[in-house]
Amino acid sequence: MKLHISPVTTEVLHELATYFVATGQQAIAAHSRFTVALSGGSSPKKLYELLASEAFKSQLDWTKVYFFFGDERNVPHTDPQSNYLMAKTALFEPLQIGSSQTFPVDTSLPPVQAAVAYTKDINQHFGNDTARFDLVLLGLGDNSHTASLFPHTPVLHDESVGAKEVYVEELQADRITLTAPLINQAQAIAFLVFGKDKAEAVKHILEDPRNIEEYPAQLIAPASGELHWFLDAAAASKLEQK
Ligand code: 6PG
Repeated sequence: MKLHISPVTTEVLHELATYFVATGQQAIAAHSRFTVALSGGSSPKKLYELLASEAFKSQLDWTKVYFFFGDERNVPHTDPQSNYLMAKTALFEPLQIGSSQTFPVDTSLPPVQAAVAYTKDINQHFGNDTARFDLVLLGLGDNSHTASLFPHTPVLHDESVGAKEVYVEELQADRITLTAPLINQAQAIAFLVFGKDKAEAVKHILEDPRNIEEYPAQLIAPASGELHWFLDAAAASKLEQK
C-alpha cells in the first residue's frame, strides 16, 4: 500500500491524474486496452475534468479505454445524483468517448435486476479472463464507506464477484455496487480522499483495528494488485504513520 500525501487538493489531483495515465499506458501496452471502474460522488469530478484538460488529454489513447462504475445511485442517467451523468459531463463528452466504451449501470431496471445485468456486462467485457479491472478508483465517505459498501449492510459479507444491489437505510435509497471481492481482483486500486471531514474515516481505515461493519473501506485489499491512497494533508491529518 502506498500513501501519496500532497499539501493541497490541486496537487493530489495532479498526482492521481499522472498515475491514471501512466497506469493506462501500461495496461494498453500490456493487453491493448485499459479497463477502469470510476468512482462517483463529488471528489472525482475535478479529477475527470483534469484528465479531459489540455494538460492530460493527449497523454492516453482514449479509444482504448473502457469505463465501468464502482457504484451507481438508483436514479435515471439524467438525474443530478447519477454518477454516470457526472462522468459523462466531466470526462466522456469532453474526450468524445464513444458509448461502446462506457458501461453505465442500467438503472431503468429494478435494483436487483440492474445488479444482475451489470454483472453480466462486466463478465462479457472480460470474456474467459478473470474480471480484473486495470484500475478501480474509489472515494471514501466520512462514515468510512467506499463505492456503495455502506456500514452494516449485507453486501459487506457478499463473497460473489460482481455487482450487487444494496438498500442504504441512512440514505433511504437503493444503490448498485461492485462487491469487495470484485474490487479486490483489480490490478490497481486508488483512493482519492481530500478535506478534513474525511480525516477520521481515513484513520479508521488505515490505522484502527479491523471492524468492517463500522469501517467498510477496510475490506479493500487487492489480492495481488497495487493499493494507493491519494490524500491531501487535511485528510491525512489524523494519521500517526505517514
Ligand atoms: C458515490 C461514491 C461514494 C463516494 C463517497 C465519497 O456514489 O457516492 O461512489 O463511494 O466515493 O461517498 O463521496 P464524496 O467524494 O462526494 O465525498
